[in-house]
Amino acid sequence: MREKIRVALLGASGYTARELISLLLRHPCAELIAVGSRQEGTPLVAELHPILTGRVNLRCEMLEARELTRRGVQCVFTCLPHGVSMTVVPQLLQAGMRVIDLSADYRLRDPQIYQEWYREPHHDPENLRHAVYGLPEVYASRIREARLVANPGCYPQTIILGLAPLIAHDLIDREDIIADSKSGVSGAGRTPRPHTHFPECNENVAAYSVGQHRHTPEIEQVLSDLARTAVRIVFTPHLVPMDRGIFSTIYARPRRAVSEHELFEVYRDYYARAPFVRVVSHLPNSKDTIGTNFCDITLRLVRQRVVLLVCEDNLIRGASGVAVQNFNLMFGLEETLGLL
Ligand SMILES: NC(=O)c1ccc[n+]([C@@H]2O[C@H](COP(=O)([O-])OP(=O)(O)OC[C@H]3O[C@@H](n4cnc5c(N)ncnc54)[C@H](OP(=O)(O)O)[C@@H]3O)[C@@H](O)[C@H]2O)c1
Repeated sequence: MREKIRVALLGASGYTARELISLLLRHPCAELIAVGSRQEGTPLVAELHPILTGRVNLRCEMLEARELTRRGVQCVFTCLPHGVSMTVVPQLLQAGMRVIDLSADYRLRDPQIYQEWYREPHHDPENLRHAVYGLPEVYASRIREARLVANPGCYPQTIILGLAPLIAHDLIDREDIIADSKSGVSGAGRTPRPHTHFPECNENVAAYSVGQHRHTPEIEQVLSDLARTAVRIVFTPHLVPMDRGIFSTIYARPRRAVSEHELFEVYRDYYARAPFVRVVSHLPNSKDTIGTNFCDITLRLVRQRVVLLVCEDNLIRGASGVAVQNFNLMFGLEETLGLL
C-alpha cells in the first residue's frame, strides 16, 4: 500500500471546495492536510459546511506556500475566483507543489484572449505556458505529466464532450454549431448577487451573456485542437431554478449523409475507454448525473441536424469531480479512484 498523497485546498468556504473536501475525505490515496480560507477566526470546516459535520476536524486557516511545504503538501487544489488564483499559484509552483486550479486563470493559452474576455491582464504568463487543460478525455497524457492543471469550466465540458467525436471525425460543419445550455444557480458560486437572489431566480428562466460568455473561447480552443483548425460556436447560457446541474442541447450540421446508428457507433467507440462519459440511448435528465462525475450524452438526427443532449453535475463533473480525476492521473492512480 503506497503512502497517501498529502493535499491541501484553498477557498474553503466556496461550493466547489465543499464538494472537493467531501470527495477527498473518502479518497483512498489522498490525505487532506490543510484547508485555506480568508475567513476570520479559523473556523472549523464543518462550521462553514455543516453537511461535513462529523467527517472532518480541520480548521480553515490563512495558508501560505511556505507553510504548506513545511507540512509536506504535494498537491494544492485552488478553488478560488479567477483573477485571485493567478496571484497564488506561482508561489505554490515555486515551492515545488503541483496545482489543480479550478478557476479560469490558466485555461486560455493566449494571455491576450484572457484579457479580451476577462477584462484584465494575465499576471502569470510564464506559468500559463506550461499549464495543461484538465479535460482527461482529451488531454490525459499531458495531464499525467503536468505540474499545473487548469481544471475545465462547467459548461465547456458538456459542450466539448458532446461535440468531440463529431469534430475529431470531421463529421460536422465547424462553423455552424449552436449550444443552448442551462445551469443551476450554484454554477455562479456561493457569494450571492442580484440575479442569483432567490426571488429573482426562483420560478424563472433567463438567458445571460448572449454571445459574450467567457466560456466561449475555452470551448473553441479545445474543439479547434481536436479539429486541427478553427471551430466556431454560438453559445447561449441560461440560468434555471435548480440548485445544481447543467443541461446542454447542441445543434450541428453533418457534412455528409449519416445515420443515427452510425453516429452512435462513433460515440460508443470514441468513449469506449472513458469511464465518466456515458453514451446513452435514452433522453438523459440532469438529475441522472447529480452527485456523480458522469457526463451523459445522447443524440438524435432531426431534419438533417445532429441534436446532442448532454448533462452533468456542475459541481462534481463540472468542477470538483473532474479535479479529482485529474489528480488521479497526475499521481499515477486509477482514473476512477474515489469517484465511483
Ligand atoms: N460553481 C461551479 O459550478 C463551478 C464550476 C467550475 C468551475 N468553477 C470555478 O471554480 C472556482 C470556485 O468556484 P466556487 O463556485 O466554489 O466559488 P465560490 O463559491 O464563490 O467560492 C470561491 C471561494 O474563494 C475564496 N476567495 C479567496 N479570495 C477571494 C476573493 N477575493 N473574492 C471572493 N472569494 C475569494 C472564498 O473562500 P474563503 O472565504 O474561504 O477564502 C470563496 O468562498 C471559481 O473560479 C469558479 O469559476 C465553479
